[in-house]
Amino acid sequence: MTVKRSIVLGTGSYLPERRLTNSDLADLVDTSDEWIVQRTGIRARHIAAEGEVTSDLAVHAARRALEAAKLEPADIDLIVLATATPDHTFPASAVTVQNKLGLTSGFAFDVHAVCSGFVYALTTADAYLRTGMARRALVIGAETFSRILDWNDRTTCVLFGDGAGALVLEAAEGDGTPADRGILTSHLRSDGAHKDKLYVDGGPSSTQTVGHLRMQGREVFRHAVSMITDVVEDAFAATGTDADSLDWFIPHQANRRIIDASAKKLGIDPAKVVVTLEDQGNTSAASIPLALDAAVRDGRVQRGDLIMLEAMGGGFTWGASLLRW
Ligand code: COA
Repeated sequence: MTVKRSIVLGTGSYLPERRLTNSDLADLVDTSDEWIVQRTGIRARHIAAEGEVTSDLAVHAARRALEAAKLEPADIDLIVLATATPDHTFPASAVTVQNKLGLTSGFAFDVHAVCSGFVYALTTADAYLRTGMARRALVIGAETFSRILDWNDRTTCVLFGDGAGALVLEAAEGDGTPADRGILTSHLRSDGAHKDKLYVDGGPSSTQTVGHLRMQGREVFRHAVSMITDVVEDAFAATGTDADSLDWFIPHQANRRIIDASAKKLGIDPAKVVVTLEDQGNTSAASIPLALDAAVRDGRVQRGDLIMLEAMGGGFTWGASLLRW
């Protein structure tokens, strides 16, 4: 049976120039390189320059993805941008990206699911392509979390960084089997009962301020592994695949211990896990496309590879997408 699939034509990413190491952070708050590395695996993160906004990061990543796909901005008719740190309350930063790319056709909007944002955006774009509402999409995750961190709070400011990643999707035809190229299945979940465990204490309708990120770190940790493994198992079950058939596991890059524990519980060989958080920290919605782009550009990801993407974050929201390269 012929089905529509969204296949990836190219990837791109961007990290701001300024790199902030753990020892730099130890000059700001009472922390140490040893504590941060042991608890999280993070050694450095990148911080956007003054005046450099989320849409700027997104445009850099998008241009690189378009170049890899050998396409021009005009070939795109949908832009879905995952971000929790938009340039403005409105308009959506996606339309600013559209404008900076010189596009006046098609349509663009933001998706807001915090650290799960990229999986949500990818799933959304996939649905538009499969229903024929768009033909080629730019899916972007871009964040400037440095702007919402409380730089006096050592329990949160050491964890996050800025960055952007993007990919170009195109609608194609497949046979409806797991051997098809493209996105094979996606599984999204949320549960607002956990909304106070990871949130920002400001907003236009509540405080009329931007606010700062607040987190009950242990509570997030406690739920992360089971939520992640649940949706990944759902993706395996929906496609008749398993940990052994997987070529690459590309998780949201929040914490090395969460990644390792999830892979172990799922029975995924550690050699198949792509980890970039050491030099990037948690870049929220940008982390999966940043990691994917790294693995594509260094030649690990090859045509035909089976790739699992997964994320969990504020809300809580969580999700997984399985795709064949
Ligand atoms: N440097 C040094 N000490 C720190 C510190 C820092 N940056 N942050 C916290 N501490 C201290 C705490 O104050 C506490 O001290 P106390 O025992 O004297 O009270 C001690 O370290 C242990 O704190 P705790 O919060 O129990 O540490 P933890 O082992 O749970 O690790 C996290 C903290 C944040 C690394 C961990 O909970 C975590 O990774 N959670 C998930 C966070 C996450 O990934 N969020 C994003 C999801 S998208």
